[in-house]
Amino acid sequence: MRFAALLAAAVAATTSVGAVPAHQPVESRDFSFSLNLGDLFDGFDLSNNNHYGAPIPPWVFGSKPGWYYGPHPGDHPHLPCLGGLICRILDLIPFFIHCPHNYPHPPTDPTDPPPADGYTNTFHNISAAVQADDYMTFGLVETVAACKAMCDSVDGCGFANSYHDVNGKDGSPLLTCALFRGCHGPEDADNEGGQSQPDGSINFIAESDGWCKQ
Ligand SMILES: *[C@@H]1O[C@H](CO)[C@@H](O)[C@H](O)[C@H]1NC(C)=O
Repeated sequence: MRFAALLAAAVAATTSVGAVPAHQPVESRDFSFSLNLGDLFDGFDLSNNNHYGAPIPPWVFGSKPGWYYGPHPGDHPHLPCLGGLICRILDLIPFFIHCPHNYPHPPTDPTDPPPADGYTNTFHNISAAVQADDYMTFGLVETVAACKAMCDSVDGCGFANSYHDVNGKDGSPLLTCALFRGCHGPEDADNEGGQSQPDGSINFIAESDGWCKQ
């Protein structure tokens, strides 16, 4: 990642917005954003109107995760990894994905009851993922807590669905983390996989959990 270019572009973007006269319509300000930010992430568009990098929802053939959020960014060279300086720059840019500010580490004593995190579990360990019109974005994470943290940092997110897309997404062993605006129960989980993969295998969904933000 070209950090200097990134920083320069981010600063240019924030400055250019500040410089737009108040009487100009919002559209022209949006346009100045896209001009300055188009190339920020080596061609990845992490803006809200591109579903934060994942314009094709996960149940549609050809979908790709928009981002990775977790402690091993080096393992995911083909995805924008949310961490470090990139997150601090993203914090400056409205309409773009924002990173959680603290990575949720697993409890040191696994027998401790999970901390209250503001989410209610609407379904647990089912073999189907949510498909719904209020889809926002999806990416890859390593823990359920990281998926909830992403929902907390994406503006308007009200529901997180974490699951294993077995054989899907290039065989990634990570959790898929799909975010939606409103809450969903198991009745909306009708993506059971079934898509043929480039290697001939068929994907299926495992350990799917639904998390409604209170
Ligand atoms: C989910 O259910 C399967 C069996 O249906 C079980 O093997 C697995 O351990 C369960 N996973 C969790 C996280 O509860």
